[in-house]
Amino acid sequence: MTQDELKQATARAAINYIAPRLEDDSIVGVGTGSTANFFIDYLAEIKGTFDGTVASSEASAERLKSHGIPVYELNAVDSIQFYVDGADEANPALELIKGGGAALTREKIVAACAEEFICIADESKWVKVLGEFPLPVEVIPMARSLVARELVKLGGDPVYRQGVITDNGNAILDVYNLSIENPTSFEETINNITGVVTNGIFAKRSANILLLGTSTGVKTIT
Ligand code: A5P
Repeated sequence: MTQDELKQATARAAINYIAPRLEDDSIVGVGTGSTANFFIDYLAEIKGTFDGTVASSEASAERLKSHGIPVYELNAVDSIQFYVDGADEANPALELIKGGGAALTREKIVAACAEEFICIADESKWVKVLGEFPLPVEVIPMARSLVARELVKLGGDPVYRQGVITDNGNAILDVYNLSIENPTSFEETINNITGVVTNGIFAKRSANILLLGTSTGVKTIT
């Protein structure tokens, strides 16, 4: 199977998981990226069986709207039943690295509101220890150099993602050469650097379920 076929299979599995659990007033949080895009396309098939969505990026909001799926502002909803999103890396504790698509801050906010976070990923994202994928860190633009110097002190090699401005108007540093043995404390340590908006470690709010697309089928990992 191609990587796209694995992404499609995991996105389809997420639809199969949520469809029987959705109610008329359910709100679905929707992530960002190529796997999330497949999920959005399949979600269109069951529109009308739930109230609407909250999107983690402008790009996902546009795609949802193009299918006629209602998109609400996060502040306008009381609760989010499911948050469905991809990942750049996932470990056996269902801690993640996200942000390859620069949407990490809104993704983290929507995930924090969700009753259940379903991660959809192909098997290339499965790792024992997080950190091979460069860790995205969203920073206030004027603090970029300050934050980069602090990240070097933590053992990383930060690289400015040229030409990328987040939906929040900020910059991204990608931090190479990290081996993240304790994701929860490292997430907190980086977030405590002045000028950091957030970083792409999802450990404080890890996934509840990982639907991992493999060549032998979609595995459900909890
Ligand atoms: C977006 O900022 C990311 O967190 C994505 O969820 C992540 O990069 C996975 O993207 P793909 O599904 O395109 O691999």
